[in-house]
Amino acid sequence: MDTNILVETAKKMMEKPKGILAMDESSPTIAKRLASINVDNNETNRRRYRELIVTAPNLSNFISGAILFEETFDQKMEDGTLFRDYLDTIGILPGIKVDKGAKDFSCHPDEKITEGLDGLRDRLATYYQKGAKFCKWRAVITIGNDIPSDACIESNMNALARYASLCQENNLVPIVEPEVLINGSHSIDRCDEVTRKSLHSLFNQLKMINVFLPGTILKPSMVISGQENDSRADQEEVATKTIACLKDCVPTDTAGIAFLSGGQTDAEAESHLNIMNQKNDLPWRVTFSYARAIQAAALAAWQGKDDNLVTSQSILIDRAQRCSNSSIGKL
Ligand code: 13P
Repeated sequence: MDTNILVETAKKMMEKPKGILAMDESSPTIAKRLASINVDNNETNRRRYRELIVTAPNLSNFISGAILFEETFDQKMEDGTLFRDYLDTIGILPGIKVDKGAKDFSCHPDEKITEGLDGLRDRLATYYQKGAKFCKWRAVITIGNDIPSDACIESNMNALARYASLCQENNLVPIVEPEVLINGSHSIDRCDEVTRKSLHSLFNQLKMINVFLPGTILKPSMVISGQENDSRADQEEVATKTIACLKDCVPTDTAGIAFLSGGQTDAEAESHLNIMNQKNDLPWRVTFSYARAIQAAALAAWQGKDDNLVTSQSILIDRAQRCSNSSIGKL
C-alpha cells in the first residue's frame, strides 16, 4: 500500500466543484433502466447508452471520476477505444464496482448481504494494472418492523471493511457505500437512528482492520423520511439531520463524502446537497456520487434513438452542472 497514491487519488476524486458519476448499474438494474424506455437489454445497447454518457460535451468540468460496471470497464466504444482509456484521456478517473451484488441474507428474512470477497484480491490487482483508480462496494440496509438486525449491520460493515483493506493493498481508493434504503413508511428519526448505527459499526470495523481513512471515501445515503411516509421531513430538516449524523459518526480524516441519490427526485437530490454545502463548517468535502439523479432525465430523452443523442447529452450535462453547483452550495 502506497498512502501517497491513495491520498492523491482521493484528492482528485474530491476536487471542487466536481462529483462522482455512478454509471455502474448491475445487469438486473440496467435491464430495468432500458426496459423503462423500451430498449432491448443487449451488449450493444448498453454500450450505446454508456457511450452517450461519457461523450457528453465537457462532462469533466463537473465529474472527477466515473464508476463503471465490470462489463463497461472492459468494453470498447464504437471506435474501438476502451471506455476506461477514454475516461482517462478526458480527465475523468475510471473506477469500478467490485461487489457481486446484495443477496438474501441467510436466515434473516427481508435482509441482504453483499457478496464478492472471494477472489477479490486477484481481481483488484488486475483492475489496478488495467488503469482503475478506485472501487465501489455497496451494502444495503433495509428498514422495517424488526429490521435491520445487528447481524445484518455488522456482517455488511465487516465485508465493507475487508473490501476496503484489499483495495488499499492494491493502491485503489475504496468507496464504501452503506445504503440505508429509502423504501418504506419510516420517519426521518428512524432513518437517523439506523444510519447512525450503521456508520458507527462501519467506522469501528474500518478502524479494527486498519483501513487508511485519508484514502477512503464514504458514499452514504441521506437521513430522510421513508418514501411512503405521509408527512415527510422538509429539505432543511433532511440537510440538517444528515450533517449532524455525519459529524457524529464520520472521523474528520476521512477523505470525503459523496452521496448516493437513492430514489430521491432530481430536485430533492440537488437541493439537499446544496443546503448542506451552504453550511460552512463541514470538516470534509461533501459532494455527490449520483446515478439516477444525473442520468434519469437523459435516459428518458434518449429512447434508444440516435436522433435524440444531442438532446439527451445536453440534459445529462445540465443535471451534472446543477449537481456540481450544489456541491459548492451555489445552486
Ligand atoms: P443512485 O444515485 O441512483 O442511488 O445510485 C447510486 C449508486 O451507485 C447506487 O449504488
